[in-house]
Amino acid sequence: MITFVYAQDEQGAIGNKGDLPWHLPSDLKHFKETTMGHTMVMGRKTFEAMGKRLLPGRKSVVVTNQVGYGSDIPELTVLHDIEDVLELGKDQELMVIGGAGLYETLWPHVDKISRTVIYDTFEADTFIPEIDESLFERVRVVPGVVDEKNVHAHDYEWWERKGGEAK
Ligand SMILES: NC(=O)c1ccc[n+]([C@@H]2O[C@H](COP(=O)([O-])OP(=O)(O)OC[C@H]3O[C@@H](n4cnc5c(N)ncnc54)[C@H](OP(=O)(O)O)[C@@H]3O)[C@@H](O)[C@H]2O)c1
Repeated sequence: MITFVYAQDEQGAIGNKGDLPWHLPSDLKHFKETTMGHTMVMGRKTFEAMGKRLLPGRKSVVVTNQVGYGSDIPELTVLHDIEDVLELGKDQELMVIGGAGLYETLWPHVDKISRTVIYDTFEADTFIPEIDESLFERVRVVPGVVDEKNVHAHDYEWWERKGGEAK
């Protein structure tokens, strides 16, 4: 099973200059809670955007075309083919955490989406398309708390594919 996890602004922005476009600590906490105990799959640039760090309590899988990438990082799984990602997802829930290329390739296979929507617009160079509501339904939404450290209004949303799991 494949679950997408991402945060976007009102224009679908997800990244800028190799980093997140915003500062929203409560979404990082939400990301940690969502992904904890799971296998996370990410593109090579997202892995590098996280400082090539293995996050505690989660297994990290990086997708890259580069042969030998990550061989110096014990416990990192490196895959070179999207078919290998699909194979890995047959007997476990994979949390795909970006970036744009990986989301684009895996849309036909995604079963669930955990999306944070930030009600603002930011300078950005990386985007994700809007969720196709003919294919997915929003099953839950929880407003994020706005405070002095989290100044942008935001919602945490959960979506599921209509009619059961993707093939
Ligand atoms: N807001 C969010 O929720 C969120 C989530 C994730 C990332 N981001 C942001 O998005 C940006 C990074 O995303 P990105 O889209 O530029 O890059 P990305 O998807 O993280 O990484 C792209 C790289 O992944 C590898 N790759 C992707 N698909 C592949 C495939 N099918 N087969 C083999 N290799 C594949 C390639 O690596 P090689 O070039 O090594 O071959 C490709 O250059 C950053 O700004 C990051 O902060 C935001």
